[in-house]
Amino acid sequence: MKTYRIGVIAGDGIGPAIVASARRVLDAVGSQNFGLEWVEIDGGAETFRRTGAALNPVDLERIRNEFDATLKGPVGLPEVRNPDGTEAGVLGGILRNGLDAYANIRPISLTPGVRSPLTETERGAAIDYVIVRENTEGLYASRGKGVGTGDVHVDQLLVTRAATERIVRQAFAIAATRTGAPADGVSRVTCVDKANVLPSMAFFRRVFDEVAAEMSAEHPSIQAEHLYVDATAAALVENPSHFDVIVCENLIGDILSDLGAATVGGIGTCPSANIGETAAYFEPVHGSAPDLASTDPTCEKADPTAQILSAAMMLDYLGEPDAAERIRRAVAAARAELTQLASASGKDAREMSSLTALTDAVVRKLNLSK
Ligand code: IPM
Ligand code: MN
Repeated sequence: MKTYRIGVIAGDGIGPAIVASARRVLDAVGSQNFGLEWVEIDGGAETFRRTGAALNPVDLERIRNEFDATLKGPVGLPEVRNPDGTEAGVLGGILRNGLDAYANIRPISLTPGVRSPLTETERGAAIDYVIVRENTEGLYASRGKGVGTGDVHVDQLLVTRAATERIVRQAFAIAATRTGAPADGVSRVTCVDKANVLPSMAFFRRVFDEVAAEMSAEHPSIQAEHLYVDATAAALVENPSHFDVIVCENLIGDILSDLGAATVGGIGTCPSANIGETAAYFEPVHGSAPDLASTDPTCEKADPTAQILSAAMMLDYLGEPDAAERIRRAVAAARAELTQLASASGKDAREMSSLTALTDAVVRKLNLSK
C-alpha cells in the first residue's frame, strides 16, 4: 500500500479545528487505499508571535523536499502586524513565492443542499467555474516592498512574460479536463484584466493572446475571450453560468474568488490549491476567523467544508482522483442531509451543521460508500 507523507500546518483561529476535521475525513477515505503519514509543521501568526518568524526557513525546505503535499489551515491574527501595518502571520508570500507555487486554483461550484443568494434565473444552468489566479507576482509582488514616505506610498504591479505564459497554459490545461461552461457547454478561458487602463494588464492580455493562439492548435475547441475585471464582477453575479475557466492577475483573483464564493454558499465552502512544478499545498480560500474562534473556543460553529474540499484537491494532485471524488460526494450528501434534518425539525441549519456533526456525517457517508 502506498503511503503519502503529508505536511500539515494547522494554522490560527479556527484553523486547528477545521484541519483536524479534514484529517479525520482523509484518514477515513485513505484507510483502505493508501496510507497517510502526517508531519506537523508550525506556521502562522501564533508561530510568529512565539518565534519571530511565521515559518521557520528549515520548514519551508521540508515542505519543498520532504512531503508529497502539504495541507494548510488558515493563518493570521489581526493583532499580529508588521511595523508597516501589514499582517505578519500570513504565509502567502513565504509559501507561494518560496515554493514557486505559481498556480492558485480555486473552483467555484454550487453544490446541492447549499443556498445561493442568487435567484435561479440569475444562476442560469449552474455555477461551475475555476479561477486560476497567478500566485507569484501582480500587485502582490509589492508585498514587503513599495516606496513610501510619511505622506505617500506606492506599490508596484509586476507582470512578467514567463509567469503569465505559465499561468495561461495552466488555465488551458484545466479547461481541457472540464466539460465546458454550464450555460452552453463551450470550453472557455476568460482572461480577466484591466487592460483598458493599466499598461501592465494590457501586457498580461497580450501574452494571454499569444498563448491562446498557440493553444488553439492543440485545443481548437477551447474558446479564448477577454473581460475587464469590473464587468466580470457584475457577470459573476448576473450570469455566472457563462464561465468555465478564468485566468487573472494575483489581486484580481483574490477579490473575485471571494465574490464567487459568496454566490455558492460563502467562503466557508471554497477550497483551493497552490501548485508549482515541484511542490504544492492546499488550503481553504477563507481566513482564520479569529472572532469566531474567540467567542467559540471549540469552534463548533466553524464550517470545515472548504478545508475538507481542499484535502480532496490534494488527493487529486497526489493521483488519487477516486478518493477525492468520494470525499466530494460525501460532503455534498452530508450537507444535504443536515440541511434536510434541520428543516424537518424546524431548527436552524447552522445549528445542525456544527463542525462535529458535519464531520461525523461526512465520515459516515464515506464508510457507507466503501
Ligand atoms: C487568500 C488570502 C490571502 C491572500 C491572505 C491571507 C494573505 O486572502 O489566499 O485569498 O490575500 O492571498
Ligand atoms: Mn483572499
